[in-house]
Amino acid sequence: MQKDIIIAPSLLAADFKKLDEEVTKLQQNGIEYLHFDVMDGHFVPNLSFGVPVLESLKPSYNFVYDVHLMVTNPEFIAFKFIKAGADIITFHYEAMKSDEEVLALIHKLKAENVKVGLSIKPTTKVEVLLPFLLELDLVLIMSVEPGFGGQKFMDSALTKIKYLANLKKDKNYKYLIEVDGGINGETGRLCTAAGVDILVAGSYLFGKDDLKERIKGLKNG
Ligand code: DX5
Ligand code: ZN
Repeated sequence: MQKDIIIAPSLLAADFKKLDEEVTKLQQNGIEYLHFDVMDGHFVPNLSFGVPVLESLKPSYNFVYDVHLMVTNPEFIAFKFIKAGADIITFHYEAMKSDEEVLALIHKLKAENVKVGLSIKPTTKVEVLLPFLLELDLVLIMSVEPGFGGQKFMDSALTKIKYLANLKKDKNYKYLIEVDGGINGETGRLCTAAGVDILVAGSYLFGKDDLKERIKGLKNG
């Protein structure tokens, strides 16, 4: 039976001059997740948007707010996003000093009744996630170097997705596998075949006249 692939459009690619219209179009096309890229200009060489944008959308749009923290100090900002209505908080393994620190933050976030994800950059080995898989609701595999939309997909992500998908089956883990960066019709198909659960897509979806077809194409893999 074909698995239901979740599509999470990355708001970073939206035209902020007409955010309402852009977001409404997503809802009208059956989108349930909204991927929120938070960049601090330090962990990544770019600055995006903060809590006020989530606060402005949450009361009007019933999405699963999937907050991707590309920040050096995730603990500082995570709770503000939770208060603003985030449903999923994902932080980067590379931002933390030790496995103990990673585990401590996972527990603190879980105590706030949000779903917790851990992300790794393309150059980070997938095995670093092993100590946390039992606790995680989501693992986010970066298929581009984080910091910008519109980059080219890196095939190395497929090996990591297959590894996590097999482990999930063998060990009956519960995490969802999300991939982010350079997703289009072709790379989305490859990731779906590798076992992904959630496809993040920015430049492939925003500002496109054939949005409905593109979403359908990603969903049907
Ligand atoms: C990059 C972000 C991605 C990005 C995706 O650091 O985490 O979510 O916005 O954009 P595309 O799909 O255009 O690569
Ligand atoms: Zn992202």
